[in-house]
Amino acid sequence: MIHLGVNIDHIATIRQARYRGAAASPNAEPDPVAAALAAERGGAAGITAHLRGDRRHMQDADIFRLRETISTKLNFEMGNTAEILAVALKVRPEDACLVPENRQEVTTEGGLDCVGSQPALRETIAALQDSGIRVSLFIDPELEQIEAAARLGAEFVELHTGAFANALGVAQDEELLRLAAAAELADSLGLRVNAGHGINYANVAKVLRIPHLVELNIGHSIVSRAVFVGLEQATCEMVDLLGAA
Ligand code: PXP
Repeated sequence: MIHLGVNIDHIATIRQARYRGAAASPNAEPDPVAAALAAERGGAAGITAHLRGDRRHMQDADIFRLRETISTKLNFEMGNTAEILAVALKVRPEDACLVPENRQEVTTEGGLDCVGSQPALRETIAALQDSGIRVSLFIDPELEQIEAAARLGAEFVELHTGAFANALGVAQDEELLRLAAAAELADSLGLRVNAGHGINYANVAKVLRIPHLVELNIGHSIVSRAVFVGLEQATCEMVDLLGAA
């Protein structure tokens, strides 16, 4: 069964819309940690949270509370900066997923450049792995990026499914083929394969055709559905779709 990691950043986004600078107020809601527990009750195999440099959603205290409270595993999404690496080494999540971060973007836009940023990534990967944290690299489904990720010694790649999710018709099928080829190459090089970005209840069946998948990380669509049915139920419905595959 392919595991579901639920990205709960948007729960913090809602809280920050009202309580920016006052996330510790007793009135601050909704609580991302309570959301993580609901996702776990719904069958999530892990919780994903991204502590961005600009702290636009998750705050440091959220990450430490998640670490103490959840009973599945924590996948800590992070940009490659000294500041966030220091937090990761204190939190000690099971997994860290390195992502590119750009202050202007609404959400993570492209994958990491593993080819061009080898020295900077290599140091961070070593620091994380020395602390017992498994490393995933969020990359576009490009063969040279997969090869570079393998050279860097990461345990996982997370294939960026955003271009697939945004494409229509034949173009979407072509994106799926690129993802499948990237997954085949990753597996042949000893990398484990996750995928995420833009996956929703409608397109997940196609995503599940990608070979060698271990985990899907899904946020926006599950939190959006949760507005109507609750997060436990929204998670459960996605888990059912993964199980049906
Ligand atoms: N994986 C990574 C690396 C991401 O940056 C994000 C977005 O934060 C996701 C998965 C989840 O994407 P979405 O919210 O579109 O499901």
